[in-house]
Amino acid sequence: MIDIDQIRIDTPAAERIAYLHNAGAALMPTPVVAAKEHIDLESEIGGYAAADREASRLYSVYGSVGRLLNAAPDEIALLENATVAWQMAFYALAFRKGDRILTAEAEYAANYVAFLQVARRTGAVIEVVPSNASGELDIHALERMIDERVKLIAITWIPVNPAAAVGKIARAHGIPYLLDACQAVGQMAVDVEAIGCDMLSATGRKFLRGPRGTGFLYVRRALLQRLEPPMIDHFAAPWVSRDEYRLRDDARRFETWENNYAARLGLGAAVDYALAIGMGPIEQRCRLLADRLRGGLASVRGITIRDLGRTPGAIVSFTMDGYEADAIVSGAAAAGITIGASHPSSTRIDAEIRALPPLVRASPHYYNTEAEIDRLIGHLAGLTPR
Ligand SMILES: Cc1ncc(COP(=O)(O)O)c(C=O)c1O
Repeated sequence: MIDIDQIRIDTPAAERIAYLHNAGAALMPTPVVAAKEHIDLESEIGGYAAADREASRLYSVYGSVGRLLNAAPDEIALLENATVAWQMAFYALAFRKGDRILTAEAEYAANYVAFLQVARRTGAVIEVVPSNASGELDIHALERMIDERVKLIAITWIPVNPAAAVGKIARAHGIPYLLDACQAVGQMAVDVEAIGCDMLSATGRKFLRGPRGTGFLYVRRALLQRLEPPMIDHFAAPWVSRDEYRLRDDARRFETWENNYAARLGLGAAVDYALAIGMGPIEQRCRLLADRLRGGLASVRGITIRDLGRTPGAIVSFTMDGYEADAIVSGAAAAGITIGASHPSSTRIDAEIRALPPLVRASPHYYNTEAEIDRLIGHLAGLTPR
């Protein structure tokens, strides 16, 4: 189904290292790396002329991201990272004293500190929906928490939350729903209609295999017209008369005039590359490799797998008795295996509830081989038990 040989030819570094850090920043395939040619073009004919020459390819990135999400191109804003994408949506919402923001235990730090800031400024309150026994946001608890003061449901999807079930509730009650899909996009099929979210943010550099410094925001058309971006320039809102600006009709009202066009072309190439393989096969292979990894790790003495949820994706988190997460990461790096660590401060609420130490995080992708997974398992099994 997936032509792994071709994909690995497109990913030359995969021959040198067992790269299992795709939840951090994946290895880019060669069609993505080719976007750097745009910088050469800028140096040859100037940045404005280069953008003009590539105008249709640059515009097609909106269509590509739209296809990836089952959204229209005018519902997409291209931004410099997922954080800015999320911030643009969140800070566009108006909160007042007593408004309620509902989120989940596994909420990502960047989002939660923004909730705290807005709560401090406005008197809105943040409420964390408890998790169920499998560690996912408890849908019944969410349902019970809904009332007319809930002005936003904002959750992080992967690793653990039931994004579409939350969408059903948000839609039924007409509550805006902002989904952080940073770790989902590129790893699995993402369909904003099926999920029922109103706003979705994601990054280029993780499972999508795009360049760093790229991200995007989806905003449902029906909501778009009601959202005034927290900051604007004359691209987002043309200056139409001395005392007036007019916000653009499309999601590009969240963008600014100046952009990194080479990175954008890289993002577009990454999306097209993923779509050409197919999100179904990608999702299937990610699960296969992650299951193999979990199965192997479970048999290594001293390792405890820390993943939550009934169907954990391609991010495998674990601890090893007697070893610090960072020491495991650097030991693996010395053995030619790239993995990462996740610190409690990035998901503080979940980490406090479960009293988690820093975790080792290994995240395979479809371009990895079974042999690479086994190499990591073998490396860890070879460490002296402590
Ligand atoms: C769940 C989640 N949301 C947002 C981000 C931020 O993405 P970016 O670095 O593109 O802003 C990350 C990055 O680690 C993440 O894991």
